[in-house]
Amino acid sequence: MATLTAREIELLSSKANSAKEAAYCPYSKFRVGAALLTESGEYFTGANVENASYPVGTCAERVAFGTAVVAGHRQFKAIAVATDISPPASPCGMCRQFMSEFTSRLFPVYMYDKDMNCSVITMGELLPNSFGPEDFRH
Ligand code: THU
Repeated sequence: MATLTAREIELLSSKANSAKEAAYCPYSKFRVGAALLTESGEYFTGANVENASYPVGTCAERVAFGTAVVAGHRQFKAIAVATDISPPASPCGMCRQFMSEFTSRLFPVYMYDKDMNCSVITMGELLPNSFGPEDFRH
């Protein structure tokens, strides 16, 4: 797993926690905040954005990745995801696939619960045997 400094982890966790405040989740009332650290040292945040047509809603992780990608970033160090539950929630299947497009197997996903207790897991653990960009290179 990639090593982060204590400062990077502290910033990721506080930004993910603050990002929950931006959640638009009138249907589930389940706030999710995400903070993504780029290889160049920039932070991008995201929150879930729900929709009256339920499946149209977007998760916090995809908002964070999408925002960073359209800002020109392709290399990432780590993501933090914060919710109001305990134990921490882990990214949904769609987000795992979305994140795997831009990350390696050792990319760390920090997951925070309502009290900011942390679990960390790698992309390779979240989505083993994944289908990705490398499958087009043959
Ligand atoms: N949600 C996320 O934002 N990220 C996840 O990885 C899991 C679920 C959101 C989607 C929806 O707005 C709410 O949490 C309840 O499913």
